[in-house]
Amino acid sequence: MLLKSLLFAVSAAALISTNASAQSPAPIVIKFSHVVATDTPKGHAALRFKELAEKGTNGRVKVDVYANSTLYKDKEEMEALQLGAVQMLAPSLAKFGPLGVKEYEVFDLPYIFPNKAALTKVTEGPIGKSMLKLLEPKGLVGLAFWDNGFKVMSANKPLHTPADFKGLKMRIQSSKVLDAQMRALSANPQVMAFSEVYQALQTGVVDGTENPPSNVYSQKMHEVQSNITLSNHGYLGYVVVVNKKFWEGLPADIRTILEGAMKEASKYANEIAQKENDDAMAAIEKSGKTKIYKLSAAEQAEWQRVLVPVQKEMEGRIGKDLIESINKATK
Ligand code: LMR
Repeated sequence: MLLKSLLFAVSAAALISTNASAQSPAPIVIKFSHVVATDTPKGHAALRFKELAEKGTNGRVKVDVYANSTLYKDKEEMEALQLGAVQMLAPSLAKFGPLGVKEYEVFDLPYIFPNKAALTKVTEGPIGKSMLKLLEPKGLVGLAFWDNGFKVMSANKPLHTPADFKGLKMRIQSSKVLDAQMRALSANPQVMAFSEVYQALQTGVVDGTENPPSNVYSQKMHEVQSNITLSNHGYLGYVVVVNKKFWEGLPADIRTILEGAMKEASKYANEIAQKENDDAMAAIEKSGKTKIYKLSAAEQAEWQRVLVPVQKEMEGRIGKDLIESINKATK
């Protein structure tokens, strides 16, 4: 009798568990596409978000991270997000201009941020909040700013003064401000997807480029550029964006957990960025493949004399008030 009821209990439990697994819904999948290597501030932060989101939701959410443009290149990824083919991206701030959100090009202005603390004041303060709101009419929700760092310039010749740029073909991201910046240096700006830069430098399609050291090193750009100048003339960072329809359609409890995971991943991203760039610069130096140049005070002043006027030149496009409010917040 005992055996019989035990057998019944076991088979009933098996039945329940089979039903339970048959009924447990498939996880919600977030495809998170980006264009840089895994071994970068953005690459690491994306993986941290995946880990936190999957753990926090007990597997109800699965985050598939596609690094290094394996799923989409930068222009395509924006389209894919708007169409809902991917759910999450972290494009660099420069990439929102072509979407029609020209205000984001303010981050590309040469010398607009004197240092990281000034930048953080903007991204984590009321200006940052209102900038995230600008994405909503585009069908996007901006969740957080992720840091990368200040840019270096590179080419196959020394770049000490603005005159050294004359006639050089310089790869830029698709930003009108970066276009104006290169023109102010008398260079020829060439818009190009990030995934194509290494080869373009290698084959001479372009002569030089700009990026924070973490991107230069992880894409091996230093191996095809003989000279790097530590110019810190401009900034490169990201906004993590999700498709609005997808985000707002999530069960509220899940969205809350994901917001928490994003908050923590963002803190992590902004903590590791500086060190990762410092480490990348040290690794570039150690490789011995490229000469690294630090501007003298006089050269620095000359770069600023040529490039700061780009702020005024771009007022009409970006908005005088926005530029002024950033300058005021960072004083
Ligand atoms: C670039 O295109 O140079 C960068 O925006 C790439 C990135 O996402 O850091």
